[in-house]
Amino acid sequence: MQRYAKPCRSVLYIPGSKPRALDKAQTLPVDAIIFDLEDAVSPDEKAPARDTLSATLNGSDFGPRTRLVRINGFDTAWGADDLAMLKDTAHDAVLLPKVEDPETVAKARSSLGPDAKIWAMMETPKGILNAANLAALPGMQGFVMGTNDLAKELGSRTRGAMLTSLQLCLLAARAEGLVCIDGVYNAFKDEDGLRAECEEGRDMGFDGKTLIHPAQVGVANAFFGPSQEALSLARRQIDAYEQAKASGQGVAVVDGRIVENLHVETANRLLAQAEAIALLEG
Ligand code: COA
Ligand code: MG
Repeated sequence: MQRYAKPCRSVLYIPGSKPRALDKAQTLPVDAIIFDLEDAVSPDEKAPARDTLSATLNGSDFGPRTRLVRINGFDTAWGADDLAMLKDTAHDAVLLPKVEDPETVAKARSSLGPDAKIWAMMETPKGILNAANLAALPGMQGFVMGTNDLAKELGSRTRGAMLTSLQLCLLAARAEGLVCIDGVYNAFKDEDGLRAECEEGRDMGFDGKTLIHPAQVGVANAFFGPSQEALSLARRQIDAYEQAKASGQGVAVVDGRIVENLHVETANRLLAQAEAIALLEG
């Protein structure tokens, strides 16, 4: 299956109850936005936030930014109304919280239609143990790691203790060609900490990072986008491989390292990502 083609380096949560933050989002250099009706919105604000969000999405231009709407669970008093609201609200995909079973996904799809794109919060032990089955469901397009809920459920205190869960979800996502986005970094004023976690998440294979504050956007874009050095190496690998092939050889050598067909595929993917970013940034 074709992976979601648009960049997802920076994926910013915005509480649906904060009109000022919703306005600000239209100017931020984020790749995607999670308009949140779930945990960032208090019970008293749920209904007004739903109305504010619907009006904002129908009345505003978020440009090329992917618009995800995180609704409340179907086991709450608000989930069904959130889903109903989405039927006539502009958005790109629905993000379902605490997904554990195929029935939850089927319910969203039966309401929104067969073309609906679905993303799942992966944040409970049951959901994560079921990741491979969830990834393969019709309409499923992306996983978002909910590391705060996961830490709570596991009783874990460090990111290291969550690595197995993160990797299980990445494996499942890659097996089905889904996007997979890393969890949030809570200390939004600690840029060094954010950089370290972005680097780790990128090296693990995540497509991007979920963010809670505009100040985190630049770091995520920098770490999850290809660097100039990486792009230059990719071009040299492609050229060297073409030359090797023209002279009847199956492999090339660049900077003392072997370059095979599979490396060329990775290099081409990197160039395509850079093009998609350039397109998005206009
Ligand atoms: N998206 C868009 N804009 C945001 C934003 C966000 N997530 N968080 C803050 N801003 C805006 C504020 O509206 C403010 O704009 P202004 O200058 O026009 O007034 C500006 O950025 C600076 O905000 P700041 O004062 O530094 O932050 P805060 O103290 O008001 O809020 C948080 C801090 C963490 C409470 C807030 O960033 C937030 O609610 N984040 C999202 C939390 C969330 O969605 N959690 C659920 C998933 S974990
Ligand atoms: Mg959660």
